[in-house]
Amino acid sequence: MPDYLTVVDHPLVQHKLTIMRDKETSTAGFRRLLREISHLLAYEVTRDLEMTTKTIQTPMREIEAPILDGKKLALISILRAGNGLLDGILELIPAARVGFVGLYRDEETLQPVQYYFKVPEALEDRLVIAVDPMLATGNSSVAAIDLLKKAGARNIRFLCLLAAPEGIARMKEAHPDVPIVTASVDEGLDEHGYIVPGLGDAGDRMFGTK
Ligand code: URA
Repeated sequence: MPDYLTVVDHPLVQHKLTIMRDKETSTAGFRRLLREISHLLAYEVTRDLEMTTKTIQTPMREIEAPILDGKKLALISILRAGNGLLDGILELIPAARVGFVGLYRDEETLQPVQYYFKVPEALEDRLVIAVDPMLATGNSSVAAIDLLKKAGARNIRFLCLLAAPEGIARMKEAHPDVPIVTASVDEGLDEHGYIVPGLGDAGDRMFGTK
């Protein structure tokens, strides 16, 4: 089990993140960097996966070699920006099962409302990694984890690119059993709930929308 909060301070992660934050970086560049950085973050969030061994024959002799144990893990993308992290992680863990959680914010109550939910079977037996590049207020992340727990998930991790202290505090209060892995803890939120200094709207930056 990782620490409650892991900030991945690897030089390659921090270098790529700086280019992603730069508003002059193109959509294509942003997307490519997000894919690259997601490999490095996936490496960190899976570093203590359970292992077993398997007997194999190398061209030289027989050995007991390490392989991953247990059921395939479940990657859950919190739509839509989660898909950017998901694609890169799947390149590293191609056998993972994949689910999607779609939430929008009700303009009156400001509370997240579910519009899509499709997750792999037997969530209770899998390591579940929920991905969303931005942990801002934490409202949608907390709601997404609520839904995953209702669907049976018991062993969940949350992977993001940037986190605001407000979002971390909200997640810790609601889901202290869900460790967070991020590339940076930024200063805070602006009056619109955007992370500062942040990188803007992650979905817009990766899909080229406004
Ligand atoms: N979502 C984003 O895409 N960016 C933020 O800064 C906050 C939430």
